[in-house]
Amino acid sequence: MRRIGIITSGGDSPGMNAAIRGAARAALGRGAQVVGFYHGYEGIINNEVIEMESRTVGGIIAKGGTLLHTARSKEFRTPEGRKLAIENLKKNGVEGLVVIGGDGSLTGARALHEEFGYPVMGVPGSIDNDINGTDFSVGFDTAVNTALGAIDRVRDTAYSHERVFVIEVMGRHNGFIALEAGLAGGAEAVIIPEIPFSLLEICDDLRAMHARGKKSSLIVVAEGALRAVDVRDFIEKNTGYEARYIVLGHMQRGGSPTAFDRVLALQLGAHAANRLISGHHGEMVGVDGTKLVSHPLSYVLSTERQIDPEKLLLVEVMAS
Ligand code: F6P
Repeated sequence: MRRIGIITSGGDSPGMNAAIRGAARAALGRGAQVVGFYHGYEGIINNEVIEMESRTVGGIIAKGGTLLHTARSKEFRTPEGRKLAIENLKKNGVEGLVVIGGDGSLTGARALHEEFGYPVMGVPGSIDNDINGTDFSVGFDTAVNTALGAIDRVRDTAYSHERVFVIEVMGRHNGFIALEAGLAGGAEAVIIPEIPFSLLEICDDLRAMHARGKKSSLIVVAEGALRAVDVRDFIEKNTGYEARYIVLGHMQRGGSPTAFDRVLALQLGAHAANRLISGHHGEMVGVDGTKLVSHPLSYVLSTERQIDPEKLLLVEVMAS
């Protein structure tokens, strides 16, 4: 393969720049030409192309966000949009594509592969860590640490005012960020969409903890777990304690990536470019423990990544 393309697509995640750097420099090192498209699939459709040299990816390893920008493309979800994208890839002489993004972006990559036989290689880039076939996706570790920083700060004010704080973290339909940040932050409870819970029981637990002398509490909740419930009001009514609800939101997507995310991203980016150039197609690279792996996109997208229920149990044990 003489010329490959790189895109970042969907929600940005810290470490995407390092993944671009890893893929670009590995490919350039093997004598291939590299182009990037701005704004993910949308940029392929609109032909927003940039030739990439080694210097193009210089100085970006410590930066959050993505140098190539990103988008969630509506047009690419249509057959006409995908046809346009393929035409532009071919017009630019791009023989294979590295797609850095989450499950939506990988679904797009699979479509290019299955509908047109086009060579693609996915790199898991998402703060949610909900992608099957890898222990970690690029950005998760940074997002967890960002959430943890906020949780630690909130703990101070919760203690001082003897309040209950509910802290909502991102994760779309999954609770990976909530569970990890909650455990690390010593949360009294973690609420995630994957495991049924009762707010009433949590209120009972808060009262029991209060009776044991614990006058302030933190509850970490995944954004997808609670809907249409005024949690603050519910807790105040059922415990009599003052409560506050905070949404951490998009701050979890920004910031300089942790060392873990940088190294992971460099390794996965390079692994993806190397496999693509060596003739492997329709896969997503990942890590299994410390080992670099690669799985067919059909497998990666066939099942949901499962939460470890033991970890949730540990939250309860630690809060008791
Ligand atoms: O998938 C990453 C993510 O940050 C989710 O955790 C969140 O639900 C979603 O993206 C938010 O998307 P947007 O940036 O479009 O509001």
